[in-house]
Amino acid sequence: MGIKYISSLNEHILVETAFDEGREIGGAQAISDGYDWSLMFGLNVADGYSEEQIGSELVRRLLDRLSGQHVFVCTDAEHLSLYEELGFLRSKTSFTYTAHEPEEETAWQKASGYYLPEGYRFEYEFYNEKPVIGAARTHTASEGDVVYTDTLDGVDYNELNTVLSAAFGGHERDPKVSEDVFRHSQYVSLAYVNGRLAGMARAVSDKVSHALILNVAVDPSYQGLHIGWNIIVHLSEQLKGQNIFLNTHPGAVGFYNRKGFRRNKTALVHNPASMPDDISRKFHLPKGYRFPDEY
Ligand SMILES: CC(C)(COP(=O)(O)OP(=O)(O)OC[C@H]1O[C@@H](n2cnc3c(N)ncnc32)[C@H](O)[C@@H]1OP(=O)(O)O)[C@@H](O)C(=O)NCCC(=O)NCCS
Repeated sequence: MGIKYISSLNEHILVETAFDEGREIGGAQAISDGYDWSLMFGLNVADGYSEEQIGSELVRRLLDRLSGQHVFVCTDAEHLSLYEELGFLRSKTSFTYTAHEPEEETAWQKASGYYLPEGYRFEYEFYNEKPVIGAARTHTASEGDVVYTDTLDGVDYNELNTVLSAAFGGHERDPKVSEDVFRHSQYVSLAYVNGRLAGMARAVSDKVSHALILNVAVDPSYQGLHIGWNIIVHLSEQLKGQNIFLNTHPGAVGFYNRKGFRRNKTALVHNPASMPDDISRKFHLPKGYRFPDEY
């Protein structure tokens, strides 16, 4: 008898389960905003069964269901190749929010090799040591002027889309997509200054153990007033007790590469489209890259 795989949906969590003669022998899960980004977690294969075969099939099946999206996973050094073989690339730009963790790393964290040292920089980095923050600022706001909320109640999605488009630049976003990805996120944090939306972030989460922060954005006219950092703090407060990940871009690495965050060593991303090599090396380690302690 062969191994049987079943796909299911547990509330908003995509689940893949492997069975042998009716006995559960493996599984993997993912959460998604339904459009752009997803977080894969919980891959497990019972002792005596091939991780390479069954684990890969579980991940492959989730990838099929998440087709067209970026898929983030944080694994351990032992399983890097399993993901690399399926087209995942090791991320240079992902972080874990560790402000809720004790100052002193636990023995487990040290041994796991999950984090790079605080403030770690790769040989090839693509962010400025002294970025010009707030260059486009036209507003001032003291701490007391900013109101942070954790709900989408009353939000104007056109305004939200305008702030997202202005912060990330490049192209005008589709307001319906911006609305959908925020509605499909289990947690949000929004900042208002005098009733005007100044910034936001969202997170997809299984609401128990894993969360991925997305779309951290502050209107350029309000940047450099610590609104972005406070949004992260407010969002993370709601996620307390979970593993809080985020994957950013090279230009924002400097924003996160400080106390409160630790750079991930074993995070990987599966992108919906390939990038030119010169861009990819700003985001990813070369396929098969291993740190000296991973050999
Ligand atoms: C990144 C972003 C959210 C930061 O928000 P912000 O409100 O302007 O930043 P803050 O004022 O909270 O900055 C906090 C600190 O980080 C620093 N900082 C901000 N952006 C930085 C960057 N890109 N690189 C390095 N440092 C940065 C600030 O100088 C400040 O330092 P300080 O504590 O020493 O004063 C905002 O610039 C933005 O929306 N950028 C475009 C979208 C984006 O890149 N989002 C991140 C994707 S995950």
